[in-house]
Amino acid sequence: MLLEVRDLKIGFNSRRSRVEAVRGVSFSLEKGKTLAIVGESGSGKSVTSMALTRLLPPSPRCEVSGEALLDGRNLLDLSERQLCQVRGKRIAYVFQEPSTSLNPYFTVGSQIVEALRFHRDDIQDPRQEAIALLEKVGIREAARRFDDYPHQMSGGMKQRVVIAIALACQPDILVADEPTTALDVTIEAQIMELLGELREREGMSIILITHNFGIVDGFADEVAVMYRGRIVENGPSGKVLSSPEHAYTQALVRCIPQIGMKRDRLPVVDYSLIEAEEVAAHG
Ligand SMILES: Nc1ncnc2c1ncn2[C@@H]1O[C@H](COP(=O)(O)OP(=O)(O)OP(=O)(O)O)[C@@H](O)[C@H]1O
Ligand SMILES: [Mg+2]
Repeated sequence: MLLEVRDLKIGFNSRRSRVEAVRGVSFSLEKGKTLAIVGESGSGKSVTSMALTRLLPPSPRCEVSGEALLDGRNLLDLSERQLCQVRGKRIAYVFQEPSTSLNPYFTVGSQIVEALRFHRDDIQDPRQEAIALLEKVGIREAARRFDDYPHQMSGGMKQRVVIAIALACQPDILVADEPTTALDVTIEAQIMELLGELREREGMSIILITHNFGIVDGFADEVAVMYRGRIVENGPSGKVLSSPEHAYTQALVRCIPQIGMKRDRLPVVDYSLIEAEEVAAHG
């Protein structure tokens, strides 16, 4: 097993209160496989993935416990210096809004070159390698685009650049946290296709975080459904999608937009049912 997370708990302390954001989450990820973490806003999806490389506030503001074994080594025990060897190189992230990942004052090419310089000492010609990466993520006329600033690119192209930067480090695991939420539907399909191709070609494992079950179908091997800091259901994605067992998963599956149906509003979720199931399970 490449990654094994056991009983992960994350709590945020403020002067007046404490938020139990993640309340004992366990999952595993095999090499080359994709795990989708699905759940509504605030359920703890992002903080779960960020805990892996400690992209969270320091203790005591944020307390993390449990285990996250990468090749058998517990990431939660590593020092800041050791984590620098994991961030990017072993686990890389692509976030929702490409503009926040890119620096507006530098060309996209120079930002890929910087990632190469920082993470790779085997590259002879970083510029050439950066152009090759731009080509790899499907940017046409890559040599010319190298000198573009982020604002000269569309949202979809920027997200491709962010993915190129992630690939520059040759990570074992790519965490894609709502990678297409800021993009329109046709571009969403293209980015998901790109991620699928890269997974094949590079043998990467992917953790896909989304609140949209629609993009999970046919993309993820396994699904973990999160609700209020817990995984309420998990299993092979085909099985979870075709016969969801938990009331919350059933509600999410009903929310999958059908082709040709314009979605202005999400179907109403009956939370009393879900809560009853959760109270029955955890008290
Ligand atoms: N830095 C922080 N300080 C305090 N609380 C935080 C912090 N980051 C996250 N939280 C809290 O942790 C909980 C889980 O947040 P998280 O961002 O993981 O949700 P999410 O499932 O990714 O939601 P979304 O779909 O909106 O991205 C939320 O209640 C959030 O308010
Ligand atoms: Mg999130």
